[in-house]
Amino acid sequence: MGSELKIHTFEQVAKHNKNEDCWLIISGKVYDVTPFMADHPGGGEVLLSATGKDGTNDFEDIGHSEDAREMMEKYYIGEIDAETVPQKRTYIPPHQISNDTASEFFIKLLQFLVPLLLLGLAISLRNYTKKEFEQLWSPVRRDTTIMFHFSWDL
Ligand code: HEM
Repeated sequence: MGSELKIHTFEQVAKHNKNEDCWLIISGKVYDVTPFMADHPGGGEVLLSATGKDGTNDFEDIGHSEDAREMMEKYYIGEIDAETVPQKRTYIPPHQISNDTASEFFIKLLQFLVPLLLLGLAISLRNYTKKEFEQLWSPVRRDTTIMFHFSWDL
């Protein structure tokens, strides 16, 4: 490692994003992994996928061994100027970016109206079948009562 600490900007580092010229930013440090592309046990493609961004999470997610961490020193070429690293985008949930309020309102209205409609339907169906039942069975009931009284009296 040289005595002079080279500080790179994010823009400079991001330019090295090819198989034959690949730089990574991991934990605030910059690595030129070009000579390691073919030998990296995880493959060169994954190293490429970590270019143009802060690759710390990608590197740590794998759970690299101590050997891998020692190996990194060979490729160290300086520090990253943290000020130049773009901030992570904040996640905006879909409902906040949606401006289709009319359809949202309609869905809410349906959610309210459909159960009411079903309830009304159920009540009217019950009333209807109750009437039908009474009309059908009340003469039978009357007759059986008469028959019962008659046989009892005998
Ligand atoms: C200078 C940087 C890096 C070095 C020196 C390095 C070194 C190594 C070494 C030695 C291994 C073998 C397993 C171990 O000992 O942990 C390995 C595996 C691996 N590395 Fe890296 N690596 C670097 C960066 C990265 C980055 C940035 C990624 C992700 C984008 C990555 C993804 C992987 C994957 C997927 C494996 C395979 C794990 C497996 O199959 O078990 N590596 N790396």
